[in-house]
Amino acid sequence: MSVLLLSGSPVTPSRSARLLDYVGEKLKAYGQRTVSVPIRELPVQAIFNADFSDPELLAARQLLAKAEAVVIATPIYKASYSGLLKSFLDVLPQDGLAGKVILPIATAGSQSHMLALDYSLRPILASLSARYILPSIYATDAQIQWHETEGLQIDPAIAERVNHGVELLHETLESMRQYHLSRLASRSAIAPEMRCRA
Ligand SMILES: Cc1cc2nc3c(=O)[nH]c(=O)nc-3n(C[C@H](O)[C@H](O)[C@H](O)COP(=O)(O)O)c2cc1C
Repeated sequence: MSVLLLSGSPVTPSRSARLLDYVGEKLKAYGQRTVSVPIRELPVQAIFNADFSDPELLAARQLLAKAEAVVIATPIYKASYSGLLKSFLDVLPQDGLAGKVILPIATAGSQSHMLALDYSLRPILASLSARYILPSIYATDAQIQWHETEGLQIDPAIAERVNHGVELLHETLESMRQYHLSRLASRSAIAPEMRCRA
């Protein structure tokens, strides 16, 4: 059971990937297990050709299938999420996000496309049957500065939004786990009675 950190930037170093790493560290502090999949490191030809037999693409799809939650990070390109992310989402099964909690995050040059995640990414996530899509986190490049010595410096307003998003993700996962445990417990309590009737 883990949280998949999916990076949709085609470049490195990547601002959105750094923000994603920061979110990952916060999740680990809550005791969540994380696993990273930078899409740019997958074989692009296999993604474009929808070559489902490619072992690296297969492994990435399996990691996604096993994850309870996915934090999806993307740069804003041309008022939308990245083409690389779309290409990867295109090779998922139609219900590829079923049962999963999703936290979308984006970095952008300006505030101009603040709603991009809501009008472009959110409908795709819903069509892939995501269970809960949490409020997205959007940061401009000016709000997340990288320093060689100090690491990622985040504007207080964004840091607060990240803390809130991570807390919400953690709480949602914990209540889903409690729900599954209580269902399992009630099933095992019913089972002997059913066996008696049989
Ligand atoms: C090709 C390209 C298109 C971009 N289009 C937009 C845009 O439409 N709106 C915006 O606010 N920023 C835009 N930007 C700026 C990036 O979204 C921003 O620098 C982002 O943090 C880059 O993230 P990355 O380093 O993870 O790729 C664009 C950058 C590039 C290279």
